[in-house]
Amino acid sequence: MKTKLILPSRISPLARLNRLLSQKQYVQSRFFIVVDENTYSHCLPTLIAGVSALQQSEFFEVPLGEEAKGVDVAAQLWGALLESGADRNSVIVNLGGGCVSDIGGFVAAAYMRGIRYVNVPTTLVGMVDAAIGGKTAVNLETVKNAVGFFHAADAVCVEPDFLDTLPESERVAGLFEMAKTLLLSDVVAFDALVDAVLRSDGVPLDFVKSHIADCTAFKQSVVAADPYERSARKMLNLGHTFGHGIESYLMQVGSPVSHGIAVGIGLMCSMYLSVKKLGLDASLLQRYVSLVRRLVTVPAFSLRDAEGVLGYMRHDKKNREGLILCVLLQSVGVPVVDVAVDENEVRDALLSLSKL
Ligand SMILES: NC(=O)c1ccc[n+]([C@@H]2O[C@H](COP(=O)([O-])OP(=O)(O)OC[C@H]3O[C@@H](n4cnc5c(N)ncnc54)[C@H](O)[C@@H]3O)[C@@H](O)[C@H]2O)c1
Ligand SMILES: [Zn+2]
Repeated sequence: MKTKLILPSRISPLARLNRLLSQKQYVQSRFFIVVDENTYSHCLPTLIAGVSALQQSEFFEVPLGEEAKGVDVAAQLWGALLESGADRNSVIVNLGGGCVSDIGGFVAAAYMRGIRYVNVPTTLVGMVDAAIGGKTAVNLETVKNAVGFFHAADAVCVEPDFLDTLPESERVAGLFEMAKTLLLSDVVAFDALVDAVLRSDGVPLDFVKSHIADCTAFKQSVVAADPYERSARKMLNLGHTFGHGIESYLMQVGSPVSHGIAVGIGLMCSMYLSVKKLGLDASLLQRYVSLVRRLVTVPAFSLRDAEGVLGYMRHDKKNREGLILCVLLQSVGVPVVDVAVDENEVRDALLSLSKL
C-alpha cells in the first residue's frame, strides 16, 4: 500500500485531509481518533474544526509518552474498538507524536487482521520521522519496540502549525532528527540549519517549519525504495547506534535524556568516527558540534560511562556476528551503512565528546 503524503502547501493540509476522507473509499468508514492528554487539549479541536469528515468520530485517550506503547494499552484499545462496533472498514486516526502513532498503528495492524489508519503527527519527531514509514511497535518491559508490525498508513497529514504548542524540549529533540535527515540529504539546508540555530535563542521555529516537508518527503522516498530495511533504509539509523546506547545508559544511571537528544549526541560520535575512518570534512563536524552545544549540555563521559554505553551498544539489534555496525558519513548525502566499528573506536568517540 502506498501512503499518501499530505504536506504543507498553499492549501491547508487539514483541508486536503478532509477532501481525502470524504472520498468514496471512506464512505462506509467510521473514524476512531487516538490522542493523549496533550493532543486532546492542544490539537483535537483544530483537527475537528479543519476536518469535518471527522466530526462524528469517537476518540480514545492513551497514556502520555512511552506508557502508551504497551501491550496492555493495545488490548484496551482493541476492546474499545470491538465494543464500539468497529469493523474492517473502520479507520484509526493517530493524532499525536511518535508514541501515539506507534500504538495506534500497532492496534490498526492487528485489529481484524489489519484495518486502515491515518497519521496526523503533532511533534517534530513525528513529522520528520515517526509518522512515516509504516513501522509500528509496542515495548515489552524495558525493551523498546520489541513487538511490532510493518503496516503502512493510508495517509500522513503534516500540519507544522501543531508545533506552536509543543514544549521547547520536544522541539529540540525533533530538531536533532531533522539535523540527521539533512545530513543524509541536503548540505545547503544543513548549513542553513546550523546558521539558524546559532542566530536564535532556542529552536528556530520558522526555519524548522519551512524544512519539514523536505525531510518528510526524503524519509518517504528512502522507505519506498526499501520498505523492510534490507539496504538503503538502514541509512536512517545515522547516529542511532550510539544514540540508543547513550539513551539506555543515561536512563540506567538516573539522568535520562529524550531519544532525540541522545541521537543528537550520538550523531556527534558518528561524525567524529566518520572524520577518522572515512575522511569526512572535519569542519562539518565542528559546525555540527556548535549546533549541539547551543541547544544542550554535552555529557562529559568517564571511562566507566563509556563502558556502560558500550555495554548497550554490544546488544544493538542491528549488530551482526559480534560486530558493532554503524552508519557513518563520507560527506553530506553520502552515508555508508554497516561500517564495523571496534570497541576502542567506540570508547575514543565517547571520551572525545567533551573535547570537541
Ligand atoms: N515508527 C517509527 O518509525 C518511529 C521513528 C522514530 C521514533 N519513533 C517512536 O516515537 C516515539 C517518540 O515520539 P515523540 O518524540 O513524538 O514523543 P511523544 O509522542 O511522547 O510526544 C512527546 C510529548 O509531546 C506532547 N505533545 C505532542 N504533540 C503536542 C503538541 N502539538 N502540543 C503540545 N504537546 C504535544 C505529547 O503529549 C508528549 O508529552 C518513541 O517511542 C519512538 O520509539 C517511532
Ligand atoms: Zn530516532
